[in-house]
Amino acid sequence: MKPTVAPFPAARLRRTRVSPAIRGLVRENTLTTDDLIWPVFVRDGDGIEEPVSSMPGVLRRSVDKIAEAAREAQAMGIPAICLFPYTDAALKTEDCAEAWNPDNLCNRAIRAIKKVAPDIAVMTDVALDPYNINGHDGYVVDGEILNDETVEALVKMTLAQAEAGADIIGPSDMMDGRIGAMRSALEAAGHRNVSILSYSAKYASGYYGPFREAVGASGALKGDKKTYQMDPGNSDEAMRLIERDLQEGADMVMVKPGIAYLDICYRVKTTFGTPTFAYQVSGEYAMIQAAAQNGWIDGEKVMLESLLAFKRAGCDGILTYFAPQVAQILNG
Ligand code: PBG
Repeated sequence: MKPTVAPFPAARLRRTRVSPAIRGLVRENTLTTDDLIWPVFVRDGDGIEEPVSSMPGVLRRSVDKIAEAAREAQAMGIPAICLFPYTDAALKTEDCAEAWNPDNLCNRAIRAIKKVAPDIAVMTDVALDPYNINGHDGYVVDGEILNDETVEALVKMTLAQAEAGADIIGPSDMMDGRIGAMRSALEAAGHRNVSILSYSAKYASGYYGPFREAVGASGALKGDKKTYQMDPGNSDEAMRLIERDLQEGADMVMVKPGIAYLDICYRVKTTFGTPTFAYQVSGEYAMIQAAAQNGWIDGEKVMLESLLAFKRAGCDGILTYFAPQVAQILNG
């Protein structure tokens, strides 16, 4: 639909910008606490909150502190929290068995959160990288990232998370066929209401650097992830991945990273009309924080503006490390 504009001065487009009241009336997109998924980092121990140096303002928390944070997030109206484990180097192995240990860090955190904050949705990350001796999302044999064997491991990991009480499974591994395999395993095990939010269009990106430090994977990773994560030059391929994941039973889909891929978000939403999410990743967060700390930008303003951009692009929600700060501002 082409908008009609009367000739000047019948139309003065500044009229609808004249006051906060009028601007509020005509605003097309808004950010609300309902749009937020808060990614958090879990570590071992008790009573621990330690700063992540590559992500100013972000903490690694022990399970008890994660539960506390989840309760606060729930009270602020944040609908979902997403867990990423910082795994002890001693637990990283070739077969990644810690990934489906019912008592691993992630699964303990799910149970602890469910006890104190039953109304916040708990999302998980499904990929082998926190447990893999070589830092990859899948099994590596002779330099090749194996697809089908990895999917089998991811299914075990998914079931352990669902068993622990996860509400949303978040496969971030980019293997082929994983969504269908996970969906049928969840159905067979009676986890009918567990959602899958697929990292469908995940690009091989430089923006993940600070995250890999946060989860202790930067040292382990050999090579890059280009044989499974997407080429930043591609857009049609993202549509094929999204369609494929939806056909295999994904309930929601994600584009990642965020701001540099808003064209993909827009295309996904207009093409499929499916629940669409974007991940404002660690590098995006770190860039805003670093510039703000230097006094080069107004951090709060840029934070809110960057998140609103996702809404304008058609996203239903955003995974953002800023979630608690944003909720505090939105709640006044
Ligand atoms: C790994 C995973 C990554 C992120 C989420 N899950 C990193 C990677 O693929 O190397 C990145 C999140 C961020 O940068 O904030 N499965």
